[in-house]
Order: sequence, then C-alpha cells, then structure tokens
Amino acid sequence: MNHDEPVSNYVFPKWVNKLPLYALSGAGLLLCLIVFVFWYWFSPKNLEVGYAPVQPIPYSHKLHVSELGIDCRYCHTQVENSSHSNIPSTDTCMNCHSQIKTQSPDILKLKDSYVNNKPIQWVKVHNLPDYVYFNHSRHVTAGISCYSCHGRVDQMERVHQVKPLSMSWCLECHRAPENHLRPREFVTKLDWKADNQLEVGRQIKEAYKIRPGEDCSTCHR
Ligand code: HEC
Ligand code: HEC
Ligand code: HEC
Ligand code: HEC
Ligand code: HEC
Repeated sequence: MNHDEPVSNYVFPKWVNKLPLYALSGAGLLLCLIVFVFWYWFSPKNLEVGYAPVQPIPYSHKLHVSELGIDCRYCHTQVENSSHSNIPSTDTCMNCHSQIKTQSPDILKLKDSYVNNKPIQWVKVHNLPDYVYFNHSRHVTAGISCYSCHGRVDQMERVHQVKPLSMSWCLECHRAPENHLRPREFVTKLDWKADNQLEVGRQIKEAYKIRPGEDCSTCHR
C-alpha cells in the first residue's frame, strides 16, 4: 500500500472524516436539550403553578367570599388605586372576630396578633422577579378581573397560584385583551361570564381605548 494515500479515503467514505464533528455537535445538542428540559420543567416558574404555601392561620376565601359574601375590596382595599394589592391587617379581621368564634384556637391567634400588635406573617403566594414592573390598579380599573390572573380564589380553602406569571403569559393578554375585558362593576365577581366575551371585550377596548403596552419598557423600567 502506498504511504502517500490515506487509508481512510479508500476504506471509509468521505463523510466519516466529519464524524468527530458530528459527534461533538451531537453532544452539544444533547447538552442543550438536557439544560432546556431542566430549565423548562424544573425552573421555579413551572413549580409556581399550583404553589399553595401553608399559612399561619388557615384563612379560607371560600368561606369568607362565597359563603359570607364579602367583596375582595373589603380586605384588599388598595387593589383599585395602588400598584400593590395589600393583605389586610388583623384589625380588618377583628371587625368581625372580636365577636365571632372568639374561642377557636385560630381566632385566639388573631386576637394575640391584635392585642400585641404583632402582624400575622402571611406567606406570599404570587411573586414576580424584582426587575418586572407590575401594577394592579391599571389592570383592575381597565376591566381585567382578578379571575383572569388568580383564578377562582372565591372557591379556594387555601390560595394557590393558577397562572405561570411568565413573560409570554403577560404578553398573550397584552396582545389580545378583548379575551378578558369586562365591565368594571364585575371585576371582583369571579363567577361572572359574558354571553359573548369577544364582543363585550372589543366594545370595552374601543370605548376606553385600551392598549396594553408590548414594548420592553412597559414592564422593564
Ligand atoms: C376577609 C378578608 C379577605 C377577603 C374578603 C378576600 N381576601 Fe384575599 N386574602 C386575604 C388574606 C388574609 C390573605 C393572605 C393569606 C392567604 O394567602 O390566604 C389573602 C390572600 C389573597 C391572595 C394571594 C396573595 C399572595 O400572597 O400572592 C389573592 C390572589 C387574593 N387574596 C385574592 C382575593 C380575591 C380575588 C378576593 C375576592 C374574590 C379576595 N382575595 C377576598 C383576605 C381576604
Ligand atoms: C365580615 C365578617 C368577617 C371578617 C371580616 C372575617 N371573618 Fe373570619 N369568619 C367569619 C364568620 C361568620 C366565620 C364562620 C364562623 C362559624 O363557622 O360559625 C368565620 C370563620 C373564620 C375562621 C374559622 C374559625 C374556626 O375555627 O372555625 C377563621 C380561621 C377566620 N374566620 C379567619 C379570619 C381572618 C384571618 C380574617 C381577616 C383576614 C377574617 N376571618 C375576617 C366572619 C368574618
Ligand atoms: C393582570 C393580572 C392580575 C389581576 C387582574 C389581578 N392580579 Fe393580583 N397579582 C398579580 C400578580 C402578577 C401578582 C404578584 C405581584 C408581585 O409579585 O409583585 C399579584 C399579587 C396579588 C396579591 C399579593 C399582594 C401583592 O400586591 O403582591 C394580592 C392580595 C392580589 N394580587 C389580589 C388581587 C385582587 C383582589 C384582584 C382583583 C380585584 C387582583 N389581584 C387582580 C396579577 C393580577
Ligand atoms: C388578562 C390580561 C392581562 C394580563 C394577564 C396582563 N396584563 Fe398588563 N395590562 C392589561 C390591560 C388591559 C392593561 C391596561 C392598558 C390600558 O389601560 O390601555 C394593562 C396594563 C399594564 C401595565 C401598565 C402599562 C402602562 O402603560 O403603564 C403594565 C406595567 C402591565 N400591564 C404589566 C403586566 C405584567 C408584568 C403582566 C404579567 C405579570 C401583565 N401585565 C399581565 C392586561 C393584562
Ligand atoms: C407585559 C409585560 C412584559 C413585557 C412587555 C416584556 N416583558 Fe420581559 N419579562 C416579563 C416578565 C413577567 C418576566 C419574568 C418571567 C419569569 O419570571 O418567568 C420577564 C422576564 C424577562 C427576561 C428574563 C428572562 C429569564 O428567563 O430570566 C428578559 C431578558 C426579558 N424579560 C426581556 C424583555 C424584552 C427584551 C422585552 C421587549 C421585547 C420584554 N422583556 C418585554 C414581562 C414583560
């Protein structure tokens, strides 16, 4: 056999020379895939849907909203006029619980918080990263219901997160808010449904010239 002629040119087809390259990029792809799968499935974003931390007192929205008929704004008083929707202080609970169920162990905890001026340490359920700007009042006053972002809180014994709060989720609605807009008087009526959502949504969108921003600076400032 002639030394000058590389063996591989005869024994193996040409593409074999590229094999290491394929192997390398194959490994690269595999690595990307693994990273993606982990990033996608195990990133907190996906875990957060369904996130339902145990609270220091088992306060039930189902009981207080659906059965007793208390409006969201009785407790979340800031939701219409501030970027943040406040959690009520113990005083709000004591409006009733200074009289109701005063001997229940959970209400005794409330009383302790009230008398000693120690706020209940409620665990936050929904969390956006700090670099995202969000504003409750802009949404609620435009006619977006709590329901669109928090689901049927009025049926929850314990609050859990139902939406991913991801960028694509925000943008999906900003591109087509007519799928969600409703008359303002129904924003806290979580069981309210329009007969024809698209029609109602389009009317409101036109009437109030609602144009949610899609520029980066709308949410990152
Ligand atoms: C009687 C007072 C009261 C009323 C009425 C009430 N809430 Fe709440 N809400 C609370 C308290 C206390 C918490 C904190 C404990 C918890 O998460 O369960 C809370 C927590 C929440 C959270 C979770 C906040 C977080 O940590 O991310 C959401 C969302 C919420 N409420 C929505 C609603 C909606 C929607 C309504 C009306 C349908 C409503 N609430 C009515 C007292 C109230
Ligand atoms: C408008 C009146 C009202 C307000 C305000 C109110 N509650 Fe209640 N709460 C009730 C009533 C009525 C019951 C049911 C009592 C019963 O089962 O007989 C109840 C029941 C409860 C129970 C169950 C007690 C048990 O042992 O059965 C807890 C816990 C509770 N409330 C916590 C809270 C907290 C925390 C707040 C403030 C965020 C609050 N409530 C605000 C009226 C109110
Ligand atoms: C457009 C979506 C959207 C709507 C509509 C909306 N929320 Fe929220 N809510 C959020 C997001 C996102 C957060 C988390 C904010 C953060 O981490 O900064 C949140 C957080 C909260 C909190 C925790 C306190 C806070 O401000 O972080 C409460 C309480 C709450 N919402 C109640 C309500 C109630 C009550 C309504 C209806 C009157 C409502 N929300 C409507 C998206 C929404
Ligand atoms: C279900 C629909 C819906 C969802 C989900 C939603 N938005 Fe909005 N957003 C709106 C509407 C409607 C407006 C009001 C636009 C107007 O008044 O012209 C708005 C307005 C805003 C504004 C105020 C814009 C300004 O010019 O000041 C900000 C900021 C914002 N949204 C951020 C967010 C972020 C961040 C998320 C996700 C965490 C989100 N939104 C999710 C519908 C939605
Ligand atoms: C309607 C609101 C909204 C708009 C508009 C928006 N973003 Fe975001 N962005 C978010 C939210 C919410 C998150 C947090 C997502 C999460 O935690 O999964 C985010 C996260 C990000 C991140 C971090 C991604 C990550 O995985 O950590 C980058 C980078 C980003 N945005 C860039 C942009 C750019 C560039 C634009 C303009 C083309 C833009 N955003 C427009 C709401 C928005």
